[in-house]
Amino acid sequence: MKKNLEVITELKKQGKALLDSRRENFVRQSILSDEFLNFIQENKKPFDLLMSYYECAIMEVETKFRVLNHELSLEYDSNPIESIKTRVKSYDSILKKIRRKNIPLNLESMEENLKDIAGVRVICSFPDDIYKLAESFLRQDDIILIQKKDYIKNPKPSGYRSLHLIVQVPIFLQNTKKLVNVEVQFRTIAMDFWASLDHKMRYKKQLSDQEIEILQEELYDCAQQSAALDERMQGIRDRIAQRKN
Ligand code: GTP
Ligand code: MG
Repeated sequence: MKKNLEVITELKKQGKALLDSRRENFVRQSILSDEFLNFIQENKKPFDLLMSYYECAIMEVETKFRVLNHELSLEYDSNPIESIKTRVKSYDSILKKIRRKNIPLNLESMEENLKDIAGVRVICSFPDDIYKLAESFLRQDDIILIQKKDYIKNPKPSGYRSLHLIVQVPIFLQNTKKLVNVEVQFRTIAMDFWASLDHKMRYKKQLSDQEIEILQEELYDCAQQSAALDERMQGIRDRIAQRKN
């Protein structure tokens, strides 16, 4: 009897601690959100201006890839780029990353620490085209490479494959030139297909830990199969190309 009471008291204590920590977390997050909103309101003009620089940098990078695609398609008789997707990071994602990485709330440190506010995703059919495009892009003398992560040669433990570059691209304004950070992700259609499904799983809140574990294993297996498929398809493409010459 006494033991039961002790157990109940202990459970109540744990429950209260959990509630307290949840409440604290909630209050902390809402204050931070308010702080972020105030920050944006107070800095509306410079903030919007900075966002427009990212838009411009995206346009520059996208044009560079369209030009490369055009040139390569004349040379090889097929388009290396399947599609290009671009986005400027949403307020919500910017705020989440500022919180997660404990970045000070000012425009300079946002610019300095968030290198993926401007994002360009280049989707190709074959892995070789990814490297060909990335090399040509990086050879251009106005592009400065800041960071390169090759998750195709070294996939992530999740199975994720993609080639990531962080570059600086100049944009020319009325009186000045400004260097802007852009994240470029190169994927094959198969890599992109896999990553979107993986992304769906990651952001689905209703999944239990056990379900997530099972799905992660399944996705890992699919990643291996999709990598093998990419290689085989490329092999076929190469053989067809050899015959043509
Ligand atoms: P972030 O702080 O999220 O930018 O991580 P990071 O700086 O370590 O960069 P990383 O190169 O690992 O990943 C950046 C981006 O790649 C993410 O925002 C996603 O778009 C994508 N990514 C990386 N890993 C995965 C993954 O396992 N699954 C999916 N679907 N996407 C991923
Ligand atoms: Mg990133």
